[in-house]
Amino acid sequence: MSDNTPWFEGIKFPMIHFSPEILREVRDKFVVKDEDTITVTYPKSGTNWLIEIVSLILSKGDPKWVQSVPNWDRSPWIESTGGYELVKGQKDPRVYTSHLPLHLFPKSFFSSKAKVMIYCIRNPRDALVSGYFFLSKINVTEKPETLQQYMEWFLQGNVIYGSWFEHVRGWLSMRDMENVLVLSYEDLIKDTRSTVEKICQFLGKKLKPEETDLVLKYSSFQFMKENEMSNFTLLPHAYTTEGFTLLRKGTVGDWKNHFTVAQAEAFDKIYQEKMAGYPPKLFPWE
Ligand code: A3P
Repeated sequence: MSDNTPWFEGIKFPMIHFSPEILREVRDKFVVKDEDTITVTYPKSGTNWLIEIVSLILSKGDPKWVQSVPNWDRSPWIESTGGYELVKGQKDPRVYTSHLPLHLFPKSFFSSKAKVMIYCIRNPRDALVSGYFFLSKINVTEKPETLQQYMEWFLQGNVIYGSWFEHVRGWLSMRDMENVLVLSYEDLIKDTRSTVEKICQFLGKKLKPEETDLVLKYSSFQFMKENEMSNFTLLPHAYTTEGFTLLRKGTVGDWKNHFTVAQAEAFDKIYQEKMAGYPPKLFPWE
Protein backbone atom coordinates (compact mmCIF):
# COMPACT_ATOMS: atom_id res chain seq x y z
CA MET A 1 0.00 0.00 0.00
CA SER A 2 1.53 3.29 -1.00
CA ASP A 3 2.58 5.82 1.56
CA ASN A 4 -0.27 8.26 1.11
CA THR A 5 -2.38 6.23 3.57
CA PRO A 6 -1.82 7.74 7.03
CA TRP A 7 -0.37 5.78 9.92
CA PHE A 8 -1.52 5.57 13.51
CA GLU A 9 0.84 3.92 15.99
CA GLY A 10 2.53 1.80 13.37
CA ILE A 11 -0.65 0.77 11.53
CA LYS A 12 -2.12 2.12 8.30
CA PHE A 13 -5.66 3.48 8.47
CA PRO A 14 -7.52 5.20 5.63
CA MET A 15 -8.48 8.41 7.36
CA ILE A 16 -11.69 8.68 5.36
CA HIS A 17 -13.19 6.42 8.05
CA PHE A 18 -10.79 6.93 10.91
CA SER A 19 -9.12 9.76 12.74
CA PRO A 20 -6.10 9.67 15.03
CA GLU A 21 -8.14 11.49 17.71
CA ILE A 22 -10.88 8.85 17.75
CA LEU A 23 -8.41 5.98 17.57
CA ARG A 24 -6.59 7.44 20.56
CA GLU A 25 -9.81 8.07 22.45
CA VAL A 26 -11.05 4.53 21.80
CA ARG A 27 -7.83 3.06 23.11
CA ASP A 28 -7.34 5.34 26.10
CA LYS A 29 -10.76 6.55 27.22
CA PHE A 30 -13.53 4.27 25.98
CA VAL A 31 -14.98 2.24 28.86
CA VAL A 32 -15.84 -1.35 28.01
CA LYS A 33 -18.77 -2.50 30.14
CA ASP A 34 -19.19 -5.94 31.66
CA GLU A 35 -22.38 -6.54 29.65
CA ASP A 36 -20.81 -5.72 26.25
CA THR A 37 -20.60 -8.33 23.50
CA ILE A 38 -17.71 -7.68 21.16
CA THR A 39 -16.78 -9.38 17.91
CA VAL A 40 -13.13 -9.02 16.98
CA THR A 41 -11.42 -10.25 13.84
CA TYR A 42 -8.62 -9.55 11.45
CA PRO A 43 -10.38 -8.20 8.32
CA LYS A 44 -11.84 -10.73 5.87
CA SER A 45 -12.07 -13.50 8.42
CA GLY A 46 -15.85 -13.83 8.62
CA THR A 47 -16.61 -10.71 10.65
CA ASN A 48 -19.94 -9.99 9.02
CA TRP A 49 -21.02 -13.62 9.23
CA LEU A 50 -20.36 -13.54 12.95
CA ILE A 51 -22.23 -10.24 13.31
CA GLU A 52 -25.21 -11.88 11.59
CA ILE A 53 -25.04 -14.94 13.82
CA VAL A 54 -24.77 -12.87 17.01
CA SER A 55 -27.64 -10.61 15.88
CA LEU A 56 -29.83 -13.61 15.16
CA ILE A 57 -28.96 -15.34 18.43
CA LEU A 58 -29.98 -12.17 20.28
CA SER A 59 -33.28 -12.08 18.38
CA LYS A 60 -33.80 -15.87 18.85
CA GLY A 61 -33.79 -16.41 15.11
CA ASP A 62 -36.33 -13.70 14.33
CA PRO A 63 -34.98 -12.11 11.10
CA LYS A 64 -36.71 -8.72 11.58
CA TRP A 65 -33.63 -7.03 13.02
CA VAL A 66 -31.16 -8.33 10.42
CA GLN A 67 -33.57 -7.49 7.63
CA SER A 68 -34.25 -3.93 8.72
CA VAL A 69 -31.01 -2.56 10.20
CA PRO A 70 -27.62 -2.58 8.41
CA ASN A 71 -24.99 -4.75 10.05
CA TRP A 72 -22.74 -1.74 10.69
CA ASP A 73 -25.52 -0.20 12.80
CA ARG A 74 -26.41 -3.43 14.61
CA SER A 75 -22.80 -4.03 15.63
CA PRO A 76 -20.81 -0.89 14.80
CA TRP A 77 -17.05 -0.88 14.35
CA ILE A 78 -15.94 0.94 17.44
CA GLU A 79 -12.76 2.37 15.94
CA SER A 80 -14.41 4.00 12.93
CA THR A 81 -15.43 7.60 13.33
CA GLY A 82 -19.14 6.92 12.70
CA GLY A 83 -19.12 3.62 14.58
CA TYR A 84 -17.69 5.15 17.72
CA GLU A 85 -20.56 7.63 17.94
CA LEU A 86 -23.07 4.81 17.47
CA VAL A 87 -21.50 2.66 20.17
CA LYS A 88 -21.50 5.57 22.61
CA GLY A 89 -25.21 6.01 21.92
CA GLN A 90 -26.13 2.33 22.28
CA LYS A 91 -28.35 1.15 25.12
CA ASP A 92 -27.08 -1.69 27.29
CA PRO A 93 -26.34 -4.45 26.58
CA ARG A 94 -24.17 -3.11 23.79
CA VAL A 95 -23.01 -5.12 20.80
CA TYR A 96 -20.09 -3.95 18.71
CA THR A 97 -17.29 -5.00 16.43
CA SER A 98 -13.61 -4.28 16.00
CA HIS A 99 -10.68 -5.14 13.78
CA LEU A 100 -8.21 -3.47 16.12
CA PRO A 101 -5.03 -5.28 17.06
CA LEU A 102 -4.57 -5.95 20.75
CA HIS A 103 -2.32 -2.95 21.39
CA LEU A 104 -4.86 -0.47 19.99
CA PHE A 105 -7.92 -2.03 21.68
CA PRO A 106 -9.63 -0.11 24.54
CA LYS A 107 -7.36 -0.50 27.55
CA SER A 108 -10.39 -0.78 29.83
CA PHE A 109 -11.23 -4.19 28.32
CA PHE A 110 -8.30 -5.75 30.07
CA SER A 111 -9.61 -4.84 33.49
CA SER A 112 -13.28 -5.57 32.79
CA LYS A 113 -15.22 -8.82 32.86
CA ALA A 114 -16.74 -7.81 29.55
CA LYS A 115 -19.14 -10.46 28.46
CA VAL A 116 -17.88 -11.24 25.90
CA MET A 117 -15.29 -11.16 23.24
CA ILE A 118 -15.44 -13.49 20.28
CA TYR A 119 -12.28 -13.61 18.20
CA CYS A 120 -12.54 -15.36 14.86
CA ILE A 121 -9.45 -16.47 12.95
CA ARG A 122 -9.19 -17.60 9.32
CA ASN A 123 -6.44 -19.13 7.25
CA PRO A 124 -4.42 -16.02 6.35
CA ARG A 125 -4.09 -17.25 2.76
CA ASP A 126 -7.87 -17.14 2.37
CA ALA A 127 -8.11 -13.82 4.25
CA LEU A 128 -5.49 -12.49 1.84
CA VAL A 129 -7.37 -13.61 -1.28
CA SER A 130 -10.65 -12.31 0.15
CA GLY A 131 -8.99 -8.97 0.98
CA TYR A 132 -7.42 -8.72 -2.45
CA PHE A 133 -10.75 -9.02 -4.25
CA PHE A 134 -12.49 -6.76 -1.73
CA LEU A 135 -9.91 -3.97 -1.88
CA SER A 136 -9.61 -4.17 -5.65
CA LYS A 137 -13.24 -3.03 -5.87
CA ILE A 138 -13.51 -0.51 -3.07
CA ASN A 139 -12.41 3.11 -3.15
CA VAL A 140 -11.29 3.65 0.44
CA THR A 141 -7.61 3.01 -0.02
CA GLU A 142 -5.09 2.31 -2.75
CA LYS A 143 -6.18 -0.66 -4.85
CA PRO A 144 -3.72 -3.52 -5.29
CA GLU A 145 -2.94 -4.04 -8.96
CA THR A 146 -2.11 -7.72 -8.70
CA LEU A 147 -2.39 -10.50 -6.16
CA GLN A 148 1.41 -10.54 -6.02
CA GLN A 149 1.47 -6.89 -5.03
CA TYR A 150 -1.18 -7.40 -2.36
CA MET A 151 0.66 -10.45 -1.04
CA GLU A 152 3.77 -8.34 -0.58
CA TRP A 153 1.81 -5.68 1.31
CA PHE A 154 0.08 -8.37 3.39
CA LEU A 155 3.27 -10.18 4.35
CA GLN A 156 4.92 -6.90 5.33
CA GLY A 157 1.87 -5.90 7.38
CA ASN A 158 1.60 -2.90 5.10
CA VAL A 159 -2.21 -3.13 4.96
CA ILE A 160 -5.14 -1.69 6.88
CA TYR A 161 -5.06 -2.98 10.48
CA GLY A 162 -1.48 -4.15 10.02
CA SER A 163 0.08 -7.58 10.11
CA TRP A 164 -2.14 -10.68 10.27
CA PHE A 165 0.63 -12.39 12.23
CA GLU A 166 0.82 -9.73 14.91
CA HIS A 167 -2.95 -9.45 15.13
CA VAL A 168 -3.45 -13.17 15.62
CA ARG A 169 -0.48 -13.64 17.93
CA GLY A 170 -1.67 -10.70 20.01
CA TRP A 171 -5.26 -11.81 20.40
CA LEU A 172 -4.43 -15.49 20.83
CA SER A 173 -2.41 -14.54 23.87
CA MET A 174 -5.82 -13.84 25.46
CA ARG A 175 -7.31 -17.20 24.51
CA ASP A 176 -7.31 -18.65 28.03
CA MET A 177 -9.38 -15.79 29.44
CA GLU A 178 -12.86 -16.89 30.50
CA ASN A 179 -14.47 -14.05 28.60
CA VAL A 180 -12.71 -14.69 25.29
CA LEU A 181 -14.00 -17.27 22.82
CA VAL A 182 -11.71 -18.08 19.92
CA LEU A 183 -13.43 -19.42 16.82
CA SER A 184 -12.34 -20.07 13.28
CA TYR A 185 -13.97 -19.43 9.94
CA GLU A 186 -13.01 -22.99 9.02
CA ASP A 187 -14.97 -24.45 11.97
CA LEU A 188 -17.90 -22.21 11.15
CA ILE A 189 -17.92 -23.64 7.62
CA LYS A 190 -17.31 -27.25 8.70
CA ASP A 191 -19.88 -27.40 11.45
CA THR A 192 -21.96 -24.26 11.55
CA ARG A 193 -24.56 -25.66 13.94
CA SER A 194 -22.20 -26.75 16.67
CA THR A 195 -20.22 -23.52 16.36
CA VAL A 196 -23.44 -21.52 16.69
CA GLU A 197 -24.36 -23.63 19.74
CA LYS A 198 -20.94 -22.89 21.20
CA ILE A 199 -21.55 -19.17 20.72
CA CYS A 200 -24.99 -19.47 22.37
CA GLN A 201 -23.49 -21.21 25.34
CA PHE A 202 -20.76 -18.60 25.60
CA LEU A 203 -23.31 -15.78 25.45
CA GLY A 204 -25.50 -17.55 27.98
CA LYS A 205 -28.40 -17.72 25.52
CA LYS A 206 -30.55 -20.81 25.47
CA LEU A 207 -32.19 -21.30 22.10
CA LYS A 208 -34.76 -23.92 21.19
CA PRO A 209 -33.66 -26.19 18.32
CA GLU A 210 -36.13 -24.51 15.97
CA GLU A 211 -34.72 -21.09 16.93
CA THR A 212 -31.21 -22.35 16.16
CA ASP A 213 -32.54 -23.55 12.79
CA LEU A 214 -33.66 -19.98 12.07
CA VAL A 215 -30.27 -18.56 13.09
CA LEU A 216 -28.64 -20.98 10.64
CA LYS A 217 -31.10 -20.21 7.90
CA TYR A 218 -30.89 -16.42 8.03
CA SER A 219 -27.11 -16.31 8.51
CA SER A 220 -26.47 -18.67 5.60
CA PHE A 221 -24.34 -17.44 2.71
CA GLN A 222 -27.33 -17.31 0.37
CA PHE A 223 -29.58 -15.36 2.73
CA MET A 224 -26.84 -12.91 3.62
CA LYS A 225 -25.93 -12.42 -0.02
CA GLU A 226 -29.49 -11.42 -0.78
CA ASN A 227 -30.02 -9.31 2.34
CA GLU A 228 -29.13 -5.72 1.55
CA MET A 229 -28.74 -5.02 5.28
CA SER A 230 -25.86 -7.51 5.34
CA ASN A 231 -24.26 -7.59 1.90
CA PHE A 232 -22.78 -4.05 1.82
CA THR A 233 -24.86 -2.97 -1.20
CA LEU A 234 -26.03 -0.02 0.94
CA LEU A 235 -22.50 1.43 0.83
CA PRO A 236 -22.51 4.73 -1.05
CA HIS A 237 -21.86 4.04 -4.75
CA ALA A 238 -18.84 6.33 -4.67
CA TYR A 239 -17.08 3.75 -2.43
CA THR A 240 -17.42 0.77 -4.72
CA THR A 241 -16.74 -0.22 -8.30
CA GLU A 242 -18.39 -2.69 -10.67
CA GLY A 243 -18.31 -6.25 -9.37
CA PHE A 244 -17.88 -5.31 -5.69
CA THR A 245 -19.31 -7.90 -3.35
CA LEU A 246 -18.80 -8.77 0.31
CA LEU A 247 -20.15 -12.29 -0.03
CA ARG A 248 -17.83 -13.46 -2.76
CA LYS A 249 -17.38 -17.24 -2.43
CA GLY A 250 -17.65 -18.13 1.23
CA THR A 251 -15.42 -21.20 1.02
CA VAL A 252 -12.33 -22.66 2.64
CA GLY A 253 -9.14 -23.03 0.59
CA ASP A 254 -9.93 -20.64 -2.27
CA TRP A 255 -6.29 -19.51 -2.04
CA LYS A 256 -5.34 -22.70 -3.89
CA ASN A 257 -7.13 -21.32 -6.95
CA HIS A 258 -5.12 -18.10 -6.86
CA PHE A 259 -1.62 -18.66 -5.45
CA THR A 260 1.12 -19.85 -7.81
CA VAL A 261 3.43 -22.57 -6.46
CA ALA A 262 6.13 -19.93 -5.93
CA GLN A 263 3.71 -17.67 -4.05
CA ALA A 264 2.54 -20.55 -1.86
CA GLU A 265 6.14 -21.39 -0.99
CA ALA A 266 7.09 -17.79 -0.27
CA PHE A 267 4.01 -17.42 1.92
CA ASP A 268 4.76 -20.64 3.81
CA LYS A 269 8.31 -19.58 4.52
CA ILE A 270 7.21 -16.34 6.17
CA TYR A 271 4.28 -18.04 7.91
CA GLN A 272 6.64 -20.62 9.46
CA GLU A 273 8.98 -17.91 10.68
CA LYS A 274 6.28 -15.66 12.11
CA MET A 275 4.19 -18.38 13.73
CA ALA A 276 7.10 -20.43 15.09
CA GLY A 277 6.26 -21.88 18.48
CA TYR A 278 2.49 -21.80 18.01
CA PRO A 279 0.84 -25.20 18.46
CA PRO A 280 -0.68 -26.23 15.10
CA LYS A 281 -3.81 -27.42 16.90
CA LEU A 282 -4.81 -23.77 17.28
CA PHE A 283 -5.11 -23.48 13.52
CA PRO A 284 -7.58 -25.72 11.69
CA TRP A 285 -5.88 -25.07 8.36
CA GLU A 286 -2.60 -26.68 9.47
P1 A3P B 1 -14.64 -14.66 0.58
O1 A3P B 1 -14.16 -13.36 0.02
O2 A3P B 1 -13.57 -15.70 0.66
O3 A3P B 1 -15.87 -15.17 -0.10
P2 A3P B 1 -15.43 -10.17 6.52
O4 A3P B 1 -16.85 -10.16 6.90
O5 A3P B 1 -14.49 -10.32 7.69
O6 A3P B 1 -15.09 -9.01 5.66
O7 A3P B 1 -15.17 -11.50 5.68
C1 A3P B 1 -15.69 -11.66 4.39
C2 A3P B 1 -15.57 -13.10 4.00
O8 A3P B 1 -16.54 -13.87 4.76
C3 A3P B 1 -15.90 -13.33 2.51
O9 A3P B 1 -15.06 -14.41 2.09
C4 A3P B 1 -17.37 -13.72 2.60
O10 A3P B 1 -17.82 -14.43 1.47
C5 A3P B 1 -17.36 -14.59 3.84
N1 A3P B 1 -18.73 -14.74 4.42
C6 A3P B 1 -19.57 -13.76 4.80
N2 A3P B 1 -20.75 -14.28 5.20
C7 A3P B 1 -20.63 -15.63 5.04
C8 A3P B 1 -21.53 -16.73 5.26
N3 A3P B 1 -22.77 -16.55 5.70
N4 A3P B 1 -21.07 -17.97 5.00
C9 A3P B 1 -19.81 -18.16 4.54
N5 A3P B 1 -18.93 -17.17 4.31
C10 A3P B 1 -19.34 -15.92 4.55
